[in-house]
Amino acid sequence: MKSISRRLLALLLGGLLVVGLAAGIATYLKAREELDELFDDQLTQMAYAFSRQESIAQLPSPGIRYEEEDDFAIQVWKNGSLVFANFPTRTLPLQSEGISTAYSEGRFWRFFVLRTGSRVIQVSQPIEARREISLDFTLRTIAPLLLAFPAFGLIIWLAVRSGLRPLSRLAGDISRRSPAALGPVPRNGLPVEVVPLADHLNLLLEKLAHSIETQKRFVADAAHELRTPLAAVRLQARVLEKSASEAERAEALDRLKEGVGRAARMVGQLLALARLEPEAPRLLSRVMLTGLAREMVGERARIALKRGVDLGMADSETIVVTGEEEALRAIIANLIDNAIRHAPWGGAVDVTVRSDAHGVIIGVVDTGPGIPPEDRDRVFDRFFRKGTSSGSGLGLAIVKSAVERHGGTISLSEGRDGKGLKVTVFLPLVPFKEDT
Ligand SMILES: Nc1ncnc2c1ncn2[C@@H]1O[C@H](COP(=O)(O)OP(=O)(O)O)[C@@H](O)[C@H]1O
Ligand SMILES: [Mg+2]
Repeated sequence: MKSISRRLLALLLGGLLVVGLAAGIATYLKAREELDELFDDQLTQMAYAFSRQESIAQLPSPGIRYEEEDDFAIQVWKNGSLVFANFPTRTLPLQSEGISTAYSEGRFWRFFVLRTGSRVIQVSQPIEARREISLDFTLRTIAPLLLAFPAFGLIIWLAVRSGLRPLSRLAGDISRRSPAALGPVPRNGLPVEVVPLADHLNLLLEKLAHSIETQKRFVADAAHELRTPLAAVRLQARVLEKSASEAERAEALDRLKEGVGRAARMVGQLLALARLEPEAPRLLSRVMLTGLAREMVGERARIALKRGVDLGMADSETIVVTGEEEALRAIIANLIDNAIRHAPWGGAVDVTVRSDAHGVIIGVVDTGPGIPPEDRDRVFDRFFRKGTSSGSGLGLAIVKSAVERHGGTISLSEGRDGKGLKVTVFLPLVPFKEDT
């Protein structure tokens, strides 16, 4: 699993290490440069100091023990022959006058040669000695930094941990919640970096709470609404039980069947509504919309005839769309059912399906009493029904859900001559046009 602390620790310590190394290298190079100058000066000064000595006899005797391997080597020639060397075993060749660098006896040397009259003084120093001093100096300089490294690590780790504490506190806060606690996460005291997370979480919680509330209300309403037809069924069953004559029995049985039918329709509508919930999965397919409408009109021809209603569909172009067949079916079926139910004897119901550049339009017009403007919003509410409606009050709610699933709109207005109801559904589904 990815860890912010580990990542920050690695990045910061790695960065520190790189900076430390760079500083060390820079220090070393600078120290080397400065020391070269300093030692070159020293070589020169030593040579001059020797040149001022009156006689060789005053020079340090060769017998003096020089333990330092790396120390200066001093040689003096007089009239071309070596008269003094502080390391007699070292036979460094005489270099040209002034400062120079040369390889001899297996290492590099820095030389300074001074000629004064008959004497030639050569002072030399192994370059290695200088490098050792530079390195030593560098290490001494950056050693405290290296020693502080673990301390830095600890500080960074503590800083990161305390920086991330609000996150772990938030996580703890959420983990201790019960599933029913959907109140907002407190955002005060949270660092600005975490506030957006809390805000989005709160937005989600709010939506969740709202959706749970809606579900609860729906279940409660549904249970309440189902109780009525079921109570009626129980009553009719009892009447059937007690009926004496054959005629009475037949009538009671008819009523019972009707009651059961109504309860079954209600359950069917409830299921249809549940399937058209905004969260319900979408099942898109190619739907022959005009064919679907024609089929639904055909299925209802008999009942329309029985009610003396002239149900018809204007000849329309063949429209094929990509949509949810069940939702589209629900829209057309519920609208036609409502229209037939409310149209008077001798009335008419007209269904149209057409398309324009933006989508398809389904229209259902009847010659019934219509819906007064003040009710036109409420009729879409679940379980809202008016007058002597024997329906569930779910029809238009189902239509609305189905329309919204397609991102469409629905509007109610008067029918022809200001009478009846005209329902217009617009769906932004671009049709594949085919000739009839
Ligand atoms: N075509 C229509 N003409 C007049 N009123 C209608 C029409 N369609 C629906 N309504 C009114 O809207 C209400 C809600 O309709 P709906 O949701 O389909 O429920 P239901 O049909 O089960 O009563 C109905 O009770 C009725 O009052
Ligand atoms: Mg209805």
